[in-house]
Amino acid sequence: MKTIISKIDINNMDKEELKKQAKLLNEGKTVIFPTETVYGLGANALDEDAVKKIYEAKGRPSDNPLIVHIYEKNEIYDLAKDISEKAETVMNKFWPGPITIILNKKEIIPYKTSGGLNTVAIRIPSHPIARKIIKYAGVPIAAPSANISGRPSPTKADHVYEEMNGRVNGIVLGGDSNFGLESTVLDMTSEVPMILRPGSITKEDLEEVIGEVTIDPSLEKKEDNKKARAPGMKYTHYSPDADVYIVSGAIENVANKINELVSVNLEKGLKTGVMCLEKNKHKYKGEVVSLGNNLDEVGRNLFDILREMDKKNVDIVYSEEFPSQGIGRAIMNRLLKSAGYKIIHT
Ligand code: TXA
Ligand code: MG
Repeated sequence: MKTIISKIDINNMDKEELKKQAKLLNEGKTVIFPTETVYGLGANALDEDAVKKIYEAKGRPSDNPLIVHIYEKNEIYDLAKDISEKAETVMNKFWPGPITIILNKKEIIPYKTSGGLNTVAIRIPSHPIARKIIKYAGVPIAAPSANISGRPSPTKADHVYEEMNGRVNGIVLGGDSNFGLESTVLDMTSEVPMILRPGSITKEDLEEVIGEVTIDPSLEKKEDNKKARAPGMKYTHYSPDADVYIVSGAIENVANKINELVSVNLEKGLKTGVMCLEKNKHKYKGEVVSLGNNLDEVGRNLFDILREMDKKNVDIVYSEEFPSQGIGRAIMNRLLKSAGYKIIHT
């Protein structure tokens, strides 16, 4: 397939180029565009044939529902029903932004989009390019992360170009994502809302405005993973080609353990990557890559660095562990999945 590529400068957006890409969406075709979280692979959410093309391009199981992206809040009343006070509060406070809300769907949403469920996931992105594309397309846009199913989500223009050129009708290249982790997914169909996927809008942020929020208990353990309420959280995900391990414990113990393993691997002819905070870089041997200075940076860089590890052709990757609160919860959720829940305790 010939892919139409548009390179957009976020500070000086070429409206005609964006309209050209939006027209493809309006005609039932697939277009990749940047959002503030990760790049999305979009198609008309109300058109079953268009949505089918998303699953094909990603190689994604079709029971995994898609997020519907809209331009303005008032569109939601045509797509979803039984919208609670708390849902209104969350939308007013956090949209446009990196949070997706699950509501009961109206008939207009095809089951192909909702993965056969009676609920629908909706969000309003804040990224200026995403907003223009959705507005010009004039239809709600279903858009999962624009990676081949199972791979880390794309956070940079290069990632989508390398992986998806030729698989979709259009690609809008528009720089790096600001957050680098996918949106928080919040189920608002129950009295006490439940986080089905942690993101940069945290449990703590939500509890400040709507009171108690729970977290899908199946997210933290491998054995419980098959029970995850967001179908997408059941699948292997965020995996580079290398085998990833999380090494947990006091920092000096972690450093000793990793360095010991790097030497053992070397004797076996295996190349080892290490992912750590910038301040700990000097402690390690092997192909050491900094994830950043703080948790916000780690979130932004994680998927890019998992991809970088593949480029370095490493066989095994060890990562430091991060605290499971605030944004750390989303980081550990993605890291645990990319590691297949393998943790080395020191
Ligand atoms: O940040 C994001 O959310 C990005 C950008 C492109 O907006 N999109 C994204 O979509 O991450 P995707 O398809 O990769 O992840 C959607 C997640 C999946 O885990 C899916 O199972 C869950 O949301 N989901 C969607 N609809 C759902 C529903 N009705 N009930 C439960 N989970 C749902
Ligand atoms: Mg995804």
